[in-house]
Order: sequence, then C-alpha cells, then structure tokens
Amino acid sequence: MRQELLGWYDRNKRDLPWRHTSDPYSIWVSEIMLQQTRVAVVIERWKAFLERFPTVQDLAKAEEQDVLALWSGLGYYRRARMLHKAAQSVVAELDGKMPLKADELRKLPGIGSYTAAAIASIAHGEAVAVVDGNVERVLSRIRGWESHDSVGDAAVRRKVEEFATGLVDPRRAGDFNQAIMELGATVCTPRSPQCLTCPWAKECRTLGEHKTPKRAAMTSREIACALVVRDGDAGTEVLLEQRAVTNTVMPGLWELPAIAVNVMANLEERLTVRHAIMQVNYVVRVCALPSEGLREKPDGVRRWVVAEEASAMALTGLARKVLTRAGLIQTAGRNGPRLLIRVGSGN
Ligand code: ADE
Repeated sequence: MRQELLGWYDRNKRDLPWRHTSDPYSIWVSEIMLQQTRVAVVIERWKAFLERFPTVQDLAKAEEQDVLALWSGLGYYRRARMLHKAAQSVVAELDGKMPLKADELRKLPGIGSYTAAAIASIAHGEAVAVVDGNVERVLSRIRGWESHDSVGDAAVRRKVEEFATGLVDPRRAGDFNQAIMELGATVCTPRSPQCLTCPWAKECRTLGEHKTPKRAAMTSREIACALVVRDGDAGTEVLLEQRAVTNTVMPGLWELPAIAVNVMANLEERLTVRHAIMQVNYVVRVCALPSEGLREKPDGVRRWVVAEEASAMALTGLARKVLTRAGLIQTAGRNGPRLLIRVGSGN
C-alpha cells in the first residue's frame, strides 16, 4: 500500500510552494493556514506571510495587529494569534529553535496532534501519522467503516488513527502523510470519488461514497453595516470600528459600523454583499451614511482612516470585501470586480 500510494504521489502531486522547503517554521505556517482554508487561497497568502515574517524570530517580534493584517480574509483569526504566541514562546523559551519531535511541538499554543505530526513528519521525517478529515475519509472508506454519529464517530476516528499509525512509511513519512491528504483532496473526495484513478482501489472495501456524518445545514442571516466616508487632507477617509479585544469572535479586528436591520430600512442601500462565515450565509446590506451620521468615538474604538491605508489594517474579511467592492481599497484578484460607486460624503 505504501508503494502504491507513494508512486501515485510522485506522479501526481501538486506543485505547492511549501513542498520546496524543509524549514519547519515555513511548514508550520502552511499547515496552520491550510486548516479551514483552500489550497488555492493559501498559496499567495503563505508567500506574502513569509516575505513579511521570514523567520520565527521575525514573527515573534511583530505586533499582533500586523500579524492579523496579513491574515485578513483568511478567517479563523485565532489561528493567527496562536501562531504568533507560539512563535514568541519558541523565541523566549527555546532559544528560537523549534522542537524536532511531534510530542514536543504539541506543547506549543495552537499546535494539536494534527499540526505536530505534519511538521515533524514533513520537516524531519518522523514516522508519525497525520489524521485530518481527508485522511479519515480515505482510510475509513478503504476499510468500509461508516460513521453513525452526526458529529463524527469517535470509534471510527480511533480505528483510523491506529490504522494510519501502522501504515505511515518510516522512510518517507512526510511524503506519505501528504500523499494521503492529497488523495483525499483530489481523488477520494467527499462526493463523486474518482475510484478509477485511485492507487488504492484494489484495497478499497467501499469503492464509492459511503455514509458520512451529515454536515450542519447552512442558515441565512441578514445584517447591515454603514459605509461612512468623507474627504480628508490625505484622500477619502472611511469610518471604521475596532471590535473589542475581549470579543470571542475576531477580537481586535477592524470593521464597518453595524446598523440594526430595522434602522437600515429607512436608509439608502448602496450595495449588497454575500459573505459566508462557518455555517452562516450573510446577506449584508451596505448603506451609505452622511459623514455626520456616525461620529468618531472618543475612546478611539471608532476612527476615521484614510481609505488607502485601511488595506494594510487587520480588517475583517467582510470589511475588506465591502471596501474593495466600493472601490475604496484594492485587493488584487480576490474579491471579484470592483464596483466603482460614489458614496455620499455628507454633502
Ligand atoms: N492539507 C493540509 N496540509 C497538507 C499537505 N501538506 N499536503 C496536502 N494536503 C494538505
């Protein structure tokens, strides 16, 4: 099975930038970004992150807001905060040297079994198995183990971990782990698996889809936010608010002021943006308000920002999307065409 999988991987693997390095820090950043974010999105963001913070020391001494700004739009900002904290602890407590072994890596903030095994196997060849959702799907299909629980089946998970541990190739552990993940991402996909091209078809008891836990249904929600701009000395300014640092969701990030949907009914809607966060599809009504409509808060939590400078701030993904669509900032190629609308500036 090892030979079949690794032979397939050697012929078919995607050329991803983090596959050209054995630097554990760079691999760590890639693995954190790849959790919950698609490969196609991660590629450019990984390069930009490493250009700005090429070493664990550079990341450790960065301001958290600068780390979050580079993470903007990737979502799940806790990942970025934990990465930053862990970098600081590597520098302060481990003399800047990342641990070699998965067991040691797991002691760092934000590094669980999955990330520890990925870094240790890919950077150092340690024969530890990586088990993520893709690996669980591939190996449980091979064995014909079905999940019966709607939130995932702990018994199946344990069997998969045991199976994966015995299967990992001690001579090419990093490649082996990446190969199973790759197989799950490109061939043994959740729906319509490509069994005819699968290197493990001969070993597979399922050969097709099988019962998997139902995903939580998406819900829709309507929200509204205010686009308040004015002409300032250095160009157009936009009013932004910083989320409380004590907020459990996206603490410290900058966003457009929220308005109650019933208040919005009396305002002129300029733009509608759709934005999905986890299981919720938001329909966001963006209303232009005159610049007297909302005032800067004295504590600085609400602030006028030169629009061009907003792009470098730790914006929420939604704020970045709205400002891009409104033509106030440029975010190359990520949020579709710019809508050049002229928003009211209070006169
Ligand atoms: N998913 C997460 N990390 C991966 C990797 N290194 N290779 C393939 N898929 C992945």
